[in-house]
Amino acid sequence: MSIPRLQNPLRQSRLALSICHWALWLACLLGAPGAHAAPFEDTLAQRLQGCTVCHGAQGRATPNGYQPRLAGKPAGYLFHQLLNFREGRRDYGPMTALVDPLSDAYLQDIAGYFSSLDVPYPPPQATTATPATLQRGEQLVRRGDADAATPACQQCHGESMMGIAPSIPGLLGLPRDYLNAQLGAWRSGKRHAQSPDCMAKVARSLSVGDIDALSQWLAAQPVPPGAKPLHEWPAGRKMPVACGGVSVEAAPTGVTR
Ligand code: HEC
Ligand code: HEC
Repeated sequence: MSIPRLQNPLRQSRLALSICHWALWLACLLGAPGAHAAPFEDTLAQRLQGCTVCHGAQGRATPNGYQPRLAGKPAGYLFHQLLNFREGRRDYGPMTALVDPLSDAYLQDIAGYFSSLDVPYPPPQATTATPATLQRGEQLVRRGDADAATPACQQCHGESMMGIAPSIPGLLGLPRDYLNAQLGAWRSGKRHAQSPDCMAKVARSLSVGDIDALSQWLAAQPVPPGAKPLHEWPAGRKMPVACGGVSVEAAPTGVTR
């Protein structure tokens, strides 16, 4: 009984502190001078300091596995996520509150800024999964599962699994808990991308065991030094499922929308 009594005030003060952080930051952001009042890079970097309270120094993520890395992710992907929070397709109150008053043009600048940061990735996570689980994870990533109508993740996320700019993020360098949470959120309808939402289809084709296998295997892979998202859709490849956030010009689909 004494544990909850002790924990509650702690939790409350932590919550108050974090609300205080982002409220303070938001005030800073909204009160910031126009984009051209000072050298642009410096001003934007300063205004986005508040984001690093949760997203880690230079947006490289914090070790807790829940607040994602922003640095080096494709700019179109980051922009779409900011829109997703603003427009209710992703469900995390503090993010929505932060981006709600901001214009598309500003969100694009923010996405471009974090995308341009080139900072080291964390080392791979040690796995406790069985060899059979890891094999299943690797199979889904590289070849998919025709019986379950799961396309290979590499078909869209790239052979190197570092993503394809501008709109498809990488799958390496993400912690297991984050991968589990995101795939689970898509599967249960809590996270949405722009329609047609290809990741919702992919995630619904996966069992809970498959999600565990995927996140175990992916999080245990190192990010090769200097690895970056591809900047062009691989020639001759078609997307196996249409994705709303990926333009047909950027990636030819083999399917009608
Ligand atoms: C209070 C902590 C907090 C603050 C401050 C914060 N974020 Fe976040 N952000 C999160 C969390 C937690 C998530 C993941 C939520 C989820 O799983 O849906 C997230 C997700 C994101 C994502 C999606 C990343 C991805 O890979 O899908 C972007 C982009 C983002 N935040 C940008 C920003 C920017 C830009 C700022 C500053 C303007 C900011 N965040 C400030 C906590 C925060
Ligand atoms: C048809 C193309 C396609 C396939 C196949 C695909 N993805 Fe994706 N994936 C996307 C797109 C597009 C996004 C960005 C969605 C958005 O804008 O929110 C994405 C986003 C993600 C994210 C979010 C990353 C982050 O930083 O939050 C994860 C995790 C993910 N995919 C995992 C997978 C896994 C695992 C597989 C294989 C089982 C897979 N994807 C197969 C297109 C695809």
